[in-house]
Amino acid sequence: MYTQEELTKAINDYIDHLPYNPQPAGLYDPIKYVLGAGGKRMRCLLMLMAYNMYKDDVSSIFPNAAALETYHNFTLLHDDLMDRADMRRGRPTVHIKWNDNAAILSGDAMIILAYQLMAQHEGTNQSKVLKTFSEAALGVCEGQQYDMEFEQRDDVTEDEYLEMIRLKTSVLLAAALKIGALLAGASDEDAELLYEFGEKVGLAFQLQDDYLDVYGDPKVFGKKIGGDILCNKKTFMLINTLNLCNEEQKAVLQAWMDKKDFVAEEKIKAVTDIYDAVNIKQVCQSKMTQLYDEGFHAFHQVKVGDERKQILKDYVEQLMGRNF
Ligand code: IPE
Ligand code: IPE
Ligand code: MG
Ligand code: MG
Ligand code: MG
Repeated sequence: MYTQEELTKAINDYIDHLPYNPQPAGLYDPIKYVLGAGGKRMRCLLMLMAYNMYKDDVSSIFPNAAALETYHNFTLLHDDLMDRADMRRGRPTVHIKWNDNAAILSGDAMIILAYQLMAQHEGTNQSKVLKTFSEAALGVCEGQQYDMEFEQRDDVTEDEYLEMIRLKTSVLLAAALKIGALLAGASDEDAELLYEFGEKVGLAFQLQDDYLDVYGDPKVFGKKIGGDILCNKKTFMLINTLNLCNEEQKAVLQAWMDKKDFVAEEKIKAVTDIYDAVNIKQVCQSKMTQLYDEGFHAFHQVKVGDERKQILKDYVEQLMGRNF
């Protein structure tokens, strides 16, 4: 079994040495820039750890892990354009450092590169792997579309929000685990349980991301704080604050959401003050705990000995307390 540190080092090294065509540099430089900026490599680690529960030759699936990471980083290029975000992993985003077209086209190329990498290693269950990958990849686009549509709506429910983040975030984490299991030749039952584990943990993970977007430390989180508030993102926190606050607070929130011209810091502060007043941190924390517990309920049913599950279990538990 490999440790988290060993897997991280090995996959980073693999990703750093991925070959690209030499020209045009304008297409490939943004790709190297974003993939070289690190990040948690969570989708890779989930896939490698799931595989490693069953088999030891993890390096044989590095192309598949790099495929998911490339796909994930493509979504970030387009997401930052859509969210008007200018910082990621402590650095300017691609559309800021280059321009919008670079983020669009380099992002497009990354989807193709991701498919090439996923198809490169013709391992066990290849057709199931490709099906799982393409379903997840399309799911992310569906989730991103809902995310955008919800910015314009004021009546988004918690269930709609959960379905939106299941699509934009969970399905890729779930696919990472399922693909790792499928490549290792695990049973369909185990692969499905791991998918369910990833789905639940992914919901909690996105809740945590939304939370850190308000309460994180930008130096550690690597992104600007308050971006979701500025875009009127219908996050778990905003939806629940609207349900919990009094009429006066609701009117203040609504006025900020309707305002077209404002000073960013003032809107962020005003909305955060109301979040604090209804103690949204607590509400968020208990939902995340519930989702993690549901995820682990599925994980415990996976038919693998506890000692082979430990590394993945520890890793996911560690994600729960993340602040980056
Ligand atoms: C960011 O994903 C997008 C979300 C789904 C919240 P990560 O938080 O995994 O980003 P990196 O890859 O570690 O930077
Ligand atoms: C990210 O949601 C989902 C995808 C990138 C598909 P966010 O928009 O919250 O991600 P960050 O906060 O920009 O990383
Ligand atoms: Mg974003
Ligand atoms: Mg987004
Ligand atoms: Mg976010």
